[in-house]
Amino acid sequence: MSAGGGTIIDGKAIAERCKERIRAQVAQLPMPPGITVVLVGDDPASKVYVSMKEVGCRDVGMRSEQVTLPKDVSQERLLATIDRLNEDPEVHAILVQLPLPGHIDEGAVLERVRPEKDVDGFHPCNVGLLQLGKATLVPCTPKGVVRLLEESGVAIAGAHAVIVGRSNIVGKPLAQLLLQRDATVTVCHSRTKGLAALTRQADILVAAVGRPGLITAEMVKDGAVVIDVGVNRVEDAHEKRGYRLCGDVDFARVREKARAITPVPGGVGPMTIAMLMENTLLAAQAQQQARGRAQRGGAR
Ligand code: GUN
Repeated sequence: MSAGGGTIIDGKAIAERCKERIRAQVAQLPMPPGITVVLVGDDPASKVYVSMKEVGCRDVGMRSEQVTLPKDVSQERLLATIDRLNEDPEVHAILVQLPLPGHIDEGAVLERVRPEKDVDGFHPCNVGLLQLGKATLVPCTPKGVVRLLEESGVAIAGAHAVIVGRSNIVGKPLAQLLLQRDATVTVCHSRTKGLAALTRQADILVAAVGRPGLITAEMVKDGAVVIDVGVNRVEDAHEKRGYRLCGDVDFARVREKARAITPVPGGVGPMTIAMLMENTLLAAQAQQQARGRAQRGGAR
């Protein structure tokens, strides 16, 4: 532990190392992997995330396109867009940015994306495969959390991991990934009684709720590893854009007790994007191999 408290886990640096490996593998493929991101509406935060994903993918040699649809788009038109992308052999990866407007049936949209192009890992087939420990395409944020722990040398097997938040995007898939690595996992949520008594038992504490200041120093055991998945915009007149980003954890005070902690920004965020690139690479490799097999089979 350094003088100011626990080590800061540098997600940006770890993501850069992941990207180097991905870039090298992309260069080996006969065709560059292609991803299309579908953005419905003009939510400012979603626009920022989508452009970060696009820039990141291009940076490692992938083709990246965006389809933008108006916020009042019909469900039929959105599903028809996904059908077109499903059929396009140059699109290996499809990501529909969430949240979607209220009139759209999110489940129907996520089910429409072909499982082999579903780089979010949100299709029911991929969710089921994750449950069985057989998934290739695993949701990017929890995959990034696990990679951060592994690359930082944190022992997962036998650790008590406490996850605060039970979303389909982070909490639930992360519980599966940690269980597969032999952690003892507790998942807490808004109806959990005695939250602090549970978080204080954590060797690995993950906050994924979206509430600034949720995790205070009193809720953390000495020597815990703390992973902050929250990305919250809080008003700040000193900032040029009028807000600053913070996580769910009271970073300065919790750092005093933690063995290691991720910052916001610069912790989990860059890893989510790196894992999206990795999933896009995996999807492209699998599709290009399948196409090669089909062509060889057809030539016989
Ligand atoms: N919105 C917030 N996180 C995510 C994510 O991981 N994938 C998608 N598609 N939308 C999101």
